[in-house]
Amino acid sequence: MTTRSNGRIPATLIPGDGIGPEITQVTVDALEALGSPFQWDVQQAGVAALDATGDPLPQATLDSLRRTRLGLKGPLTTPSAGGFRSVNVRLREAFDMFANVRPAKTLIPGRYENIDIVLVRENVEGFYVAHEHYIRVGDDPHAVAVSQGVNTREGCLRIARFAFEYAVTHGRKKITVVHKANILKALTGIFLQAAREVAKEYEGRVALDDRIVDACAMQLVLNPWQFDMLLCTNLFGDILSDQLAGLVGGLGLAPGSNIGKEAALFEAVHGSAPDIAGRGIANPVSQLLAAGLMLEHVGRTDLANRLVEGIRRTLIDDNVRTADIGGRASTAEFSNALIRRLSCLS
Ligand code: NAI
Ligand code: MG
Repeated sequence: MTTRSNGRIPATLIPGDGIGPEITQVTVDALEALGSPFQWDVQQAGVAALDATGDPLPQATLDSLRRTRLGLKGPLTTPSAGGFRSVNVRLREAFDMFANVRPAKTLIPGRYENIDIVLVRENVEGFYVAHEHYIRVGDDPHAVAVSQGVNTREGCLRIARFAFEYAVTHGRKKITVVHKANILKALTGIFLQAAREVAKEYEGRVALDDRIVDACAMQLVLNPWQFDMLLCTNLFGDILSDQLAGLVGGLGLAPGSNIGKEAALFEAVHGSAPDIAGRGIANPVSQLLAAGLMLEHVGRTDLANRLVEGIRRTLIDDNVRTADIGGRASTAEFSNALIRRLSCLS
């Protein structure tokens, strides 16, 4: 990380698709109200970039991230069943951001109280390597679909080490490794074995247990409080992190970070929400909390705490909430209320 002469940290800002520009604008405004340490280099990716430049991941965006090694990203639309490959996945691969950290912590009263679980997802292997093809049968070129997942020992060991180190530095006591090693014996067995191997180095400090993914999903509904951290392969982590978001009130309240040696990129867990894009009703809290994780990442825990406290007071004390979490506020109303709160906290 480098700092410019004005003392701010250069960072790439990707507004993204759908609700992305709406929620990133709220986030940039809130950061300014806090005294943002970031100097933004605004770049495009996803459908926004495809429309503007003909390329969903322009070279300028890659160059920017290579320079800043730090970014805040809005959600990016990925076409289903065809079309261009996920730009999110390509960014994770391009900068070897192998760790996806998705904390789920209760902010507002809901079905579940006092949820505090951190999910660590392997971010560049598994089924997301997209070794996929069709096999022709007779006249049908798409008669059979084949997908191959790839997990490497090295990749499994490094994500397990990352999770254990995270546990130590964040005061967490137990990691549950999630797998399907009874069926995908090789692909997820290697992940389970790696976690067990790394756990030996942390004996007495961080405990390890394991769950088969389907049972884990059920237990997350019945008794989520038994979990402290979840360590997941790429696909299972994608699915279970949306489930964790559900435990704390929904996708509007769920941030995540992509961490690697070459860059760190912060984002909401959710997607571009095309069903509500442009209507001014998106919940910006996930993106705001992602900015909080980014502040922590650059050592500004003071600002991160103030941001989270401002969000909490806006949601709880002012009862200003968007429709997805039972309120009636627009995105702009939430933003105004938050900025009022942040200026009182400064
Ligand atoms: P989604 O997460 O965009 O939306 C699922 C549901 O949650 C929708 O009803 C949406 O309105 C609601 N929702 C999501 N975020 C919200 C917010 N901040 N405020 C209020 N409501 C919110 O998932 P979906 O519809 O499956 O995917 C849409 C697109 O997003 C797809 O192209 C997908 O590939 C992409 N996507 C991108 C991600 C990323 O950039 N990291 C992650 C997940 C999906
Ligand atoms: Mg997802």
